[in-house]
Amino acid sequence: MSEPDASRPDGHSYDVETELLLWWEDYYLPVFEYVLPKMGDLPGKRVLELGTGTGGTATLLAKKGASVVGIDLLPFRLDEAKDRVKHHNVSDSVDFSLMDATHLAFPDNTFDFVISKSVLVFTEHSLTAKECYRVLKPGGKAIFVENMQHHPAVKLYRKFFLKYSQELHYFSLSDIEAITVEFDGMEHREFHLLSLGALFWQKVIPISIFYRWTLQTLKSVDRYLLRLFPFLKRICWITAMICNKEV
Ligand SMILES: C[S@@+](CC[C@H](N)C(=O)[O-])C[C@H]1O[C@@H](n2cnc3c(N)ncnc32)[C@H](O)[C@@H]1O
Repeated sequence: MSEPDASRPDGHSYDVETELLLWWEDYYLPVFEYVLPKMGDLPGKRVLELGTGTGGTATLLAKKGASVVGIDLLPFRLDEAKDRVKHHNVSDSVDFSLMDATHLAFPDNTFDFVISKSVLVFTEHSLTAKECYRVLKPGGKAIFVENMQHHPAVKLYRKFFLKYSQELHYFSLSDIEAITVEFDGMEHREFHLLSLGALFWQKVIPISIFYRWTLQTLKSVDRYLLRLFPFLKRICWITAMICNKEV
């Protein structure tokens, strides 16, 4: 678990239970540390998670006090998700439903937040974004944590190890701009450029201390590079889009 940021003026702690990120945790951690504070206090808030899978994010948000609905197209994933929320004692705060993110069976203006992690890439982006806008309450936010197209190492990995990836629509910067059009405002941040190099010390020659040190160093280098050369965002691995519906 990451340390709460004691320096935050509002006194909130935005610690993320990394176990609930489920995969590539070290890489999704900074992304969630960026998006969770945008959600503010979660008790009393209604959240829709698109493509909840085995329910990691739904559980994480329910543990922070939100009332969550997780939808997915795959029943066996939802069965696992139900086990997960039970294990974490948040079954009462989470409902799961078999549903297509591009045809949401909820009335307009239902949710304070919609969130997705690696899901829009499976769908027609603008169709899903339109549905999210519709079901958001005025003043609500849609948060899309999605994978990008052009990181050279990730592209190679997808080509050789993720055959189904050819079918997916990963995000380019212009795809991000296209999502902006569907909302009243948007901010986005891109993550992970050189930091993927740390995986050498995890996957090739596993030496934990080298992995940790390289990851921390390269994450700092990435932040610096992206500030200095914003055009490098194009070849990042992950984007987080925070989209607003006006009051
Ligand atoms: C890569 S997994 C991510 C799962 C989960 N968000 C996580 O981070 O662990 C993508 C999930 O999206 C679901 N999915 C794909 N297309 C969908 C759609 N149109 N509507 C709802 N869920 C969808 C898949 O069934 C799968 O569970």
